[in-house]
Amino acid sequence: MKDFYKAVKISDHVYWVGAIDWNIRDFHGYTTRRGSTYNAYLVLADKITLIDTVKAPFKEEMLSRIASVIDPGDIRYIVSNHSEMDHSGCLPEIIEMIKPEKVIASHIGSKTLKELFPISQEILAVKDGEHVSLGNMTLSFMETRMLHWPDSMFSYLAEEQILFSQDAFGMHLATSERFDDQIDPSILRYEGATYYANIILPYSPLVLKLLDRVAASGMAFKIIAPDHGPIWRRNIPWIVDLYAGWAAQKPTLRAVVVYATMWHSTEMMAMAISEGLAAGGLNVKLMSMDVFHRSDVAYELLDAGAFIVGSSTLNNHMLPHIADVLTYLKGLKPTNLMGSAFGSFGWSGEAVRQIQSVLVEMKVEMVGEAISVRHVPDKGVLDKCYALGTLISDKLKERVAGQ
Ligand code: FEO
Repeated sequence: MKDFYKAVKISDHVYWVGAIDWNIRDFHGYTTRRGSTYNAYLVLADKITLIDTVKAPFKEEMLSRIASVIDPGDIRYIVSNHSEMDHSGCLPEIIEMIKPEKVIASHIGSKTLKELFPISQEILAVKDGEHVSLGNMTLSFMETRMLHWPDSMFSYLAEEQILFSQDAFGMHLATSERFDDQIDPSILRYEGATYYANIILPYSPLVLKLLDRVAASGMAFKIIAPDHGPIWRRNIPWIVDLYAGWAAQKPTLRAVVVYATMWHSTEMMAMAISEGLAAGGLNVKLMSMDVFHRSDVAYELLDAGAFIVGSSTLNNHMLPHIADVLTYLKGLKPTNLMGSAFGSFGWSGEAVRQIQSVLVEMKVEMVGEAISVRHVPDKGVLDKCYALGTLISDKLKERVAGQ
């Protein structure tokens, strides 16, 4: 066991015993440029309890951190707040090794874990609102179905006012610091928003309900301890307010123009549209998909009000980079967007219609006429592109003013 890995005390009886993944750069399609952490927590109650585990290759790191505080064999209960393998990958081996008295999960989690792994030990399925005594302390559980898996739940340790929130309020950020107040707030804001946009966004209506429910519960929090990234101890109202804003998805005066181009014709159109949007008073982000990653677009759209997409036509289809980002975004279900489509073609020109079709499926309100041009756009076409930009800016300003 590598004894340089140490636990980090986060409250009187709770330690962080997770792992730092400095090198991960892809999280099923979401680019994680700053790595990540898999957070696990040790509660030193009468019944010593491990809350969540880590991704399988990081088992030894977690065990070493636990061993810096207690003998891992002294763990009596293990709670799985979320079955996804970045938090449960080493769970079967840990159960086998420790043979805890109880393994605890939500009702769906108890089934999911058995479907994912050959776990022979019975898993105690807890209900929403149920309490489990740890002897001198109590854990209570709150189902958070579809945030972001059906099995997901929160655990709350009332004696130390800690909410163990699994993926919620997390971010992919590998750091040597464990707490929010030790990290540059601009990095917290950016990585928190990127995480929300790429993981949590489709479930925004549930986030709003959950925030209301937690507020109504009267629970007090000194600490929110998520399964990724820093532990919140100072900026809890800040991150909760940010979640409320991201979940509401109210459009702002921002436009995102995404394009892919073969010989710069579609790019010229993108630039003319962007200039029109900016002239109309919008903040504009122009994103070539040769340069940006799909998860950058998800981040930029989080508080945007307009989404305009262009592609050249290649072999009767939109370019692969555009198909990629649209497929990804469709699944993330951003709402309250308006937009349009544009592009250049050589002899058929299907790409613009295909983009329009996806935007309509995404419930993007289509503004003006999509613009399609054979080969290189002349001044007349570029003027139309510019005018499309100003038209969208006018419509978006109306919408934002009416909120
Ligand atoms: Fe961090 Fe949904 O797993």
